[in-house]
Amino acid sequence: MIEVKTGGKLYIAGEYAILAPQQTALLAFIPIYMTAHITPNHRYQISSDMFSYSCDVITPDANYALIQETVAVMEEYLLACGYAIRPFSLIITGKLERDGVKLGIGSSGSVVVLILKAMVALYQIDVSEDLLFKLAAYVLLKRGDNGSMGDVACIAYESLLAYTSFDREAVRHQIALHPLPKVLASDWGYSIRRVTTSLDIDFLVGWTKQSSISKEMIKCVKKAIDTTFLSETDSQVLRLITSLETGDKLAVKTSLETISTLLEQLSPVIYNEQLKRLKMASVDLDCVAKSSGAGGGDCGIALSFDALSSKKLMERWREDGIVLLLKERLSFL
Ligand code: PMV
Ligand code: MG
Repeated sequence: MIEVKTGGKLYIAGEYAILAPQQTALLAFIPIYMTAHITPNHRYQISSDMFSYSCDVITPDANYALIQETVAVMEEYLLACGYAIRPFSLIITGKLERDGVKLGIGSSGSVVVLILKAMVALYQIDVSEDLLFKLAAYVLLKRGDNGSMGDVACIAYESLLAYTSFDREAVRHQIALHPLPKVLASDWGYSIRRVTTSLDIDFLVGWTKQSSISKEMIKCVKKAIDTTFLSETDSQVLRLITSLETGDKLAVKTSLETISTLLEQLSPVIYNEQLKRLKMASVDLDCVAKSSGAGGGDCGIALSFDALSSKKLMERWREDGIVLLLKERLSFL
């Protein structure tokens, strides 16, 4: 029995803007994991603790469709590499939720990367993080996912990273026209870079306990995204990344505050009541807090620059019913 794991992700900055090509976002890897156990079997048997039944790979099943598609894409890749396809049993556990409510740290992206990793381990092949990212993005693009693919970049690389987006329509077009190996071999035009910082920063994640569907949020907010939002967000995200790398604390704070304000102005649905409270909790402390990702629920994040501020922020979050999901040194992520 082979075991593999994948974690989650959260946007620190650049959400929504990252939906347009050549924008940059900063994402944090969240070490809360899903697990897969895979073993060769005489027939396909796939089960996830999300559902009360298992499935195979040929009987269409709406719940398992994403998993089935991921298996199909990986098998197409394996075939192209000259491997003989073998059935397996796959068990997925550790749904990224609490009390039946999803945490909003990237469960669909995580499950795709998880299955790819499980099959990579089963076939004992060498797949780079970059190829893992491309395969996962391929699965999601093929399924018509409307996300930026920043989630799968972060989950595949398991690191704090700067992700510069590619033209998804152009790649979708390639997928329709060309076989998988050709699409994988082409340059999609994205960039992924690990980010490190010498600053002593506490990275805190607050969960609103309200679930939000990114796909729906995107549909609602997308029309408000204009070139001013894009250029202002991008320049602040780049400034934020440089400031983390050079250790300019003040610039980290001001750029993150500006990015938060830009999001607030983009659409009123992003900062719902709980996310407003999550942010307000940072007032007069040495920290910055903001909504993370699509907003409208799920999680918010904070960067805190001293222990007392972290403590105060956590107290305020607790009083407001915001659950602390993670507190970690940013440089460890
Ligand atoms: O809420 P999340 O963590 O799924 O993030 C969504 C971020 C968006 O930029 C709004 C969409 C995307 O896929 O990048
Ligand atoms: Mg979300």
